Amino acid sequence: MTWLGYRKLPVPALGCTILAAICFLSSVCAAQQPAAAEAKTEQKPVDCIKCHGPIAAAAARKVKHPAMEGGCDSCHVNHRDQKARAEAKGDHYLTDKQPAVCGGCHDVAEKKLLDTHKGQPFATAECSGCHNPHGSDQPKLIAEMAHSPFDARACDSCHKPPKDGKVVLNESSTSKLCFGCHADVEERLKKAKFQHTLLKSDDNSCADCHDPHASGRKFGLRKPVAELCSACHSDLTDGKKFVHKPVTESCTACHNAHASDFEKNTHAAVNDLCLGCHGPSALKIVQGPEPVSLFGGKVALPAKAYEDLSWLQLSNDGKLGHPYPQHPVSAPASEGKAEITCLSCHKPHAANGSAKMLVTETARADKLCIRCHGK
Ligand code: HEC
Ligand code: HEC
Ligand code: HEC
Ligand code: HEC
Ligand code: HEC
Ligand code: HEC
Ligand code: HEC
Ligand code: HEC
Ligand code: HEC
Ligand code: HEC
Ligand code: HEC
Ligand code: HEC
Repeated sequence: MTWLGYRKLPVPALGCTILAAICFLSSVCAAQQPAAAEAKTEQKPVDCIKCHGPIAAAAARKVKHPAMEGGCDSCHVNHRDQKARAEAKGDHYLTDKQPAVCGGCHDVAEKKLLDTHKGQPFATAECSGCHNPHGSDQPKLIAEMAHSPFDARACDSCHKPPKDGKVVLNESSTSKLCFGCHADVEERLKKAKFQHTLLKSDDNSCADCHDPHASGRKFGLRKPVAELCSACHSDLTDGKKFVHKPVTESCTACHNAHASDFEKNTHAAVNDLCLGCHGPSALKIVQGPEPVSLFGGKVALPAKAYEDLSWLQLSNDGKLGHPYPQHPVSAPASEGKAEITCLSCHKPHAANGSAKMLVTETARADKLCIRCHGK
């Protein structure tokens, strides 16, 4: 297995091997078929492909979209031009929102097209929820890694015929629908001590994060993990000068997206969580030729995931030794004194002040010391 260039990708959790294999394969495809892309971009005023390798790779896949022949500007504005950029009406610098951006060339009112979509109200849907407009190895530009029942075109395993132009599901809520086939997820969710509030409070939340059809991402996620979570949790990092490196890459390095036995759905108790990377395994993570498994297999970091990582040298029981040789980093609450953990002194996500992310959000450590040691 080659992990070339993998370092800059988001930290994936379990299953990163497959993800890396796909990234690797698509870069191979791109390398083998550059001719078509080059010929096309020659006559273009702006060479979009130069900076967007993954799109070139998608365009080189088996099933091609004729719209790509017309150039990227069939659907996108040139974001490098300030004026054009301001004219984008959709996300991703699309000239128009979806589905209108597709509607210019595809008559979504056509009966035949409706039949292809099994009578479901596709005409008002986000087309890229099922299709990859740039290219695909699947027939009809269906996005890669389609959800199994969708891949089988078993629309009726989830859908009834639509009513008033809206989809009707076979169950009264999305989670009931999903649990029908994913009983194991339901069981783990019920058994866990803590559940993501979103999942507890909204019976349709599965679809907030997962596309039930085909998103082109592993686990059918609607967006890459950090982007997905930040859509609702941007307050953790907004306006902060220093953001903890793993937070910029993947929230699931530390959290289970659904539930866990630890508060705030972390993979382990706080100090074990932090020391998973900043403890004895740090050296293996930085130098090791192998992927590193953390938290009993809940997370797999690719080999050499980080170029450098501070390693705390603590006493054998992990309770003393930072930030000074005999200083406690772990102690239970006692006699009016609060419990000591890494979070007594550090913020886990981001902070102002210094890269050490002190809870006081100042560069000077003395403000921190007097919190516990008086003046
Ligand atoms: C010099 C390199 C460069 C060129 C040339 C370039 N881009 Fe980009 N593009 C970027 C970077 C960097 C970003 C991310 C930052 C941003 O949004 O401006 C980006 C972002 C985008 C996005 C949004 C990505 C997202 O995740 O939402 C789209 C779409 C896009 N570019 C399309 C194009 C098109 C179409 C062209 C040609 C007209 C083009 N780019 C030319 C570098 C480039
Ligand atoms: C047929 C319309 C169409 C054409 C032509 C097209 N795109 Fe896109 N592009 C889209 C749509 C729709 C999305 C949003 C996909 C999504 O929601 O995931 C998108 C998303 C993107 C993104 C950001 C998300 C991603 O998949 O990485 C980039 C970058 C991008 N396009 C670049 C390009 C470039 C470069 C070209 C030309 C080589 C191009 N596109 C041609 C429709 C198009
Ligand atoms: C500039 C015109 C144009 C735009 C814009 C456009 N398409 Fe297409 N598309 C075509 C043409 C031409 C074909 C081939 C004839 C056909 O199947 O209608 C095609 C074919 C397709 C096919 C069938 C591919 C196959 O292998 O049979 C799909 C799916 C598709 N387009 C989806 C989309 C989606 C989704 C969008 C919006 C993101 C979009 N198109 C925007 C021109 C366009
Ligand atoms: C819920 C998933 C889904 C959505 C959303 C969706 N499609 Fe499709 N589309 C499909 C499937 C499934 C097929 C049929 C693929 C096959 O035959 O294997 C298809 C086929 C097509 C075809 C090829 C038709 C043919 O007979 O060759 C076009 C064109 C197309 N879609 C355009 C669009 C456009 C435009 C949108 C947005 C307005 C859209 N689709 C939204 C799932 C979807
Ligand atoms: C695993 C269950 C499942 C399967 C299989 C499935 N769908 Fe869906 N579909 C859903 C759910 C759940 C929603 C509602 C998603 C949401 O709330 O965004 C939905 C929504 C839709 C929508 C509306 C999308 C939008 O963005 O407004 C269309 C259209 C659709 N499905 C078409 C299809 C077609 C066509 C097929 C078969 C080719 C299919 N679905 C197969 C679960 C499924
Ligand atoms: C009709 C049965 C059925 C329904 C309903 C269903 N799924 Fe699936 N799902 C499957 C099958 C089969 C697989 C592939 C086997 C597997 O990995 O469990 C799968 C795979 C998945 C995977 C990838 C699992 C992995 O380990 O890679 C996710 C994520 C997923 N489904 C989420 C959902 C969500 C969210 C819903 C509700 C919107 C849902 N499923 C509804 C049958 C279903
Ligand atoms: C659609 C919005 C939404 C998305 C997307 C979302 N969350 Fe949440 N999350 C919430 C809400 C609402 C709460 C409860 C209130 C709060 O703490 O902000 C919450 C709470 C949390 C909590 C605190 C513990 C709890 O459940 O109360 C954690 C940790 C968390 N989310 C992590 C994540 C991670 C990781 C992701 C991405 C995999 C994510 N969230 C995506 C809405 C969202
Ligand atoms: C806050 C976003 C979020 C919500 C809400 C959510 N998921 Fe997930 N789900 C994820 C992420 C992220 C992963 C990938 C986990 C990883 O990388 O280890 C995942 C993984 C999965 C998997 C495959 C791995 C596994 O645990 O078996 C299934 C199946 C799944 N989710 C089903 C569901 C169902 C069913 C629901 C609704 C009850 C749901 N998810 C709600 C974010 C979410
Ligand atoms: C380095 C590990 C780590 C990473 C990566 C991480 N978190 Fe956390 N997160 C934590 C810890 C530890 C807590 C518990 C904080 C506490 O108890 O005060 C937490 C708490 C939370 C909470 C509860 C609110 C709060 O401030 O206590 C939310 C929401 C949350 N995280 C979301 C996210 C999101 C979204 C991401 C990705 C953008 C993310 N986390 C990445 C370790 C992490
Ligand atoms: C998934 C691995 C991972 C986990 C888990 C993790 N970190 Fe980090 N942390 C990093 C990386 C990578 C850096 C950036 C490299 C460095 O400076 O060590 C970093 C940087 C830091 C820094 C700044 C170091 C400096 O010198 O600038 C502090 C402080 C820190 N982490 C504290 C924590 C705390 C507290 C926790 C637990 C809530 C934690 N980390 C959990 C990977 C991790
Ligand atoms: C009593 C407060 C305190 C506790 C508890 C604490 N730290 Fe620190 N930590 C600091 C201070 C102060 C610094 C900055 C030292 C400096 O700038 O020289 C620091 C620096 C760091 C650094 C940067 C590298 C270094 O050695 O300077 C990392 C990584 C780190 N801490 C992780 C952790 C982890 C992981 C835990 C829990 C096991 C933890 N800290 C517990 C106060 C604390
Ligand atoms: C979260 C509370 C807390 C913070 C913040 C804290 N300490 Fe401590 N410190 C303790 C506790 C508890 C002990 C154990 C002895 C005791 O109970 O006083 C200790 C012991 C010490 C000792 C004696 C042990 C040794 O290492 O030789 C020194 C010196 C010390 N702290 C300095 C500092 C300095 C300097 C800072 C700021 C960088 C700091 N402490 C921040 C709680 C804290």
